[in-house]
Amino acid sequence: MDDDDGGFESHPGRGRFNAVFFRGMDAYIDWHLHKHKTPVFDHLPTTVVELGPGVGANLRYLTPGTRLLAIEPNPYMHSSLRRAAARHKVEVEIRSVVGERIDLPDHSAEAVISSLVLCTVRDPATVVSEIRRILRPGGHYCFVEHVAAETGTPTRWVQHSLRRPWAWVFEGCSCERDLATVIRSAGFSEVEITPYRIHSPFLPFNTHIRRSCHLLAVIDAWEMNFQLLQRYVARTGTARVRRDHLKEGQPLGSWASNQRAFLKPGKLSQERTARLEALPGWQWKLPTGPASGPHS
Ligand SMILES: C[S@@+](CC[C@H](N)C(=O)[O-])C[C@H]1O[C@@H](n2cnc3c(N)ncnc32)[C@H](O)[C@@H]1O
Repeated sequence: MDDDDGGFESHPGRGRFNAVFFRGMDAYIDWHLHKHKTPVFDHLPTTVVELGPGVGANLRYLTPGTRLLAIEPNPYMHSSLRRAAARHKVEVEIRSVVGERIDLPDHSAEAVISSLVLCTVRDPATVVSEIRRILRPGGHYCFVEHVAAETGTPTRWVQHSLRRPWAWVFEGCSCERDLATVIRSAGFSEVEITPYRIHSPFLPFNTHIRRSCHLLAVIDAWEMNFQLLQRYVARTGTARVRRDHLKEGQPLGSWASNQRAFLKPGKLSQERTARLEALPGWQWKLPTGPASGPHS
């Protein structure tokens, strides 16, 4: 492939090997990463963009019924990803483009996620600027990535020594990237990153970063949607918003529907619960059927 393809080359042998490897290692990798992924991928909306989902390691963190826009240029991952999505009841739409050139409009995504992908893309800074371009104000980039260990440590030495065979086997993966700096330099309004370590026999892979669950960022998105809902109430007189309702280009209906879904598992604070209940017409269970709220 040439530069117009974003530099991604899918090799038939290694492409297939990686699909089989990540399918086979799925439970093992998740065993290591579960406690880090759980807070990062909590509270995702019902439409999510994922970069390089591979064979679907993160589907288990999505609510059944989620629509997943999968930016996955490697064709050898696609059939496994489709099968895994069906198992997890996730509606997947695969886009065979690279993260350096995402074919989605500006400010169209509420959440973008990735795990173990920025290590492999050709140009992580361009990928992160693409993520920023497609995120809407108040949207979130939620990631779990592996990075270079601190200079002078034995892990850093192993990462450097094994860099060539590692990159060959794992289709360009580098364990030597300072991805925290790349993400911090991308111009997000708030960035909180937590470094952590896992203990696996795959030594170069053991140093990681993840997005911290930064309360302010979460409040930011929630407040923005709550204000949209207040404006909706001011116009229609009721908070009974239809599930498919878009307000000012934002999926207000699906956000309101998420709030209803969050109540039962205790994912909504008492304060937020009270503020929603104070809105005229707010209901925790909408009557079924097409006319479950006004259209305006
Ligand atoms: C190490 S795998 C990780 C897969 C999955 N996210 C996981 O956690 O198991 C890296 C993934 O990134 C994808 N990838 C490689 N280059 C990419 C690019 N330029 N843009 C988007 N995805 C890319 C690969 O096809 C592969 O699915």
